[in-house]
Amino acid sequence: MEEFVTVCRRGEIPPGGGKTVEAGGKLIAVFDDAGTLCAISDVCPHMGASLSDGELEDGVVTCRWHAWRFRVADGTWMNNPRIKIPAYEVRQVGDEVQVRLAGGS
Ligand code: FES
Repeated sequence: MEEFVTVCRRGEIPPGGGKTVEAGGKLIAVFDDAGTLCAISDVCPHMGASLSDGELEDGVVTCRWHAWRFRVADGTWMNNPRIKIPAYEVRQVGDEVQVRLAGGS
């Protein structure tokens, strides 16, 4: 089982927004969804845009390029909920934001 790794400071994630971090060779988008931290793959499966740059509303991020939408809590693709992109456990320890790489579901 992978350990949590520190990816950034809490203050680096804007309220209601996201930030791209790198951990274990993966690009991960960490979001502040109404005060709750969520982490999914940052790479949009359509054409690779950064999802952390998308518009976050009601727990769903909309890709800036062509508006594909993903639930930040678990990576569900809203257009076809049977398909998910990787989602990661995320936690805050003090001022540090930590992501657990294993089990991206
Ligand atoms: S690259 Fe994200 S919707 Fe096209």
